[in-house]
Amino acid sequence: MKSSAIPLELSQIPLSVAQTLLLEPLKQHNQVTFRVLNPTTAPDLFAGETLERAGETYFHRPLRVWLDLAELLRCELELMALETDFLTLRFSQNIPTERDKTSSSNPEKYGAHTSFQRIKKLEEPYFLNDAVRALKWLELPPTARVLDLGVGSAEELHLLELAYPQHTFEVLGVDHSVSALELAKQRFPQHSFKVADINNLPADLGQFDLIISIGTFQSANIDLEPLFRRLLGHLTSSGRWLLAFPNSRYIGSKLTYGARRLNYSHPELSLLFKDVNFFKRYFQKHRYEVQITGKYYIWIAAKGIK
Ligand SMILES: C[S@@+](CC[C@H](N)C(=O)[O-])C[C@H]1O[C@@H](n2cnc3c(N)ncnc32)[C@H](O)[C@@H]1O
Repeated sequence: MKSSAIPLELSQIPLSVAQTLLLEPLKQHNQVTFRVLNPTTAPDLFAGETLERAGETYFHRPLRVWLDLAELLRCELELMALETDFLTLRFSQNIPTERDKTSSSNPEKYGAHTSFQRIKKLEEPYFLNDAVRALKWLELPPTARVLDLGVGSAEELHLLELAYPQHTFEVLGVDHSVSALELAKQRFPQHSFKVADINNLPADLGQFDLIISIGTFQSANIDLEPLFRRLLGHLTSSGRWLLAFPNSRYIGSKLTYGARRLNYSHPELSLLFKDVNFFKRYFQKHRYEVQITGKYYIWIAAKGIK
């Protein structure tokens, strides 16, 4: 991989022209280096507003513009040099990875030895903060029984502690992956974990104050309508829900925005919107107050109307 030698100057041309200039070197070398105005020069300007420096006109662009453009062009953004008035940036193309074609009904699709277990969701600022905010909004009682469906290796249970450091939780995590639940047990020996198919939950689960499910209910192998009818019977009268649906995809190790369908290179959100709307209506019909938030994950929180 060899970069174009001289950095392109992109601060004096409109974005539509700048992005076109990046395409050829990206095609030739898989990377391109370019110089732009340092956004700290005029932080109060809107993206695309111009300013004068030594008789020359420059476009102001915040770093977010370059991050968004890098993502659109499927590139990684690196900072190569920092001057007072300029930055040198580099876009390097992400090598596309084969989409995992393991069937969703294979219990070990997200098992302990898969790259899924390398993902640290609590290191993602939006995931962490959206989840904690949604949990706080649910106003859980000081001691609460929680059912987590598709708990995997249980990293998400740290969110309960973060949202409610003074509360006591008794959690039952369910998953069909034996190896992921082994990791979960090591992480949270105080909680219970059960190997089971979500479609076929044991009858003696008892009552819960909160049912959580993150990144699981859109799985093709889950039969939602009968599952929900049963789950309503496992909630206390003031029971709450917290569901999360991915609006993102990993390309290699990089989190990229937008739900994607097979064979779509760009985000295609119709399925996500349909599912979110389905759950919103479902909860409202059952007299819950519903809040929907999120970026890379869409969070649906529901609590009984007071
Ligand atoms: C995308 S992962 C999400 C795991 C975890 N909640 C997280 O966000 O990191 C989906 C999880 O649901 C589990 N799962 C999918 N279908 C299931 C089913 N029918 N019964 C039990 N677990 C299931 C998978 O094994 C996996 O751990």
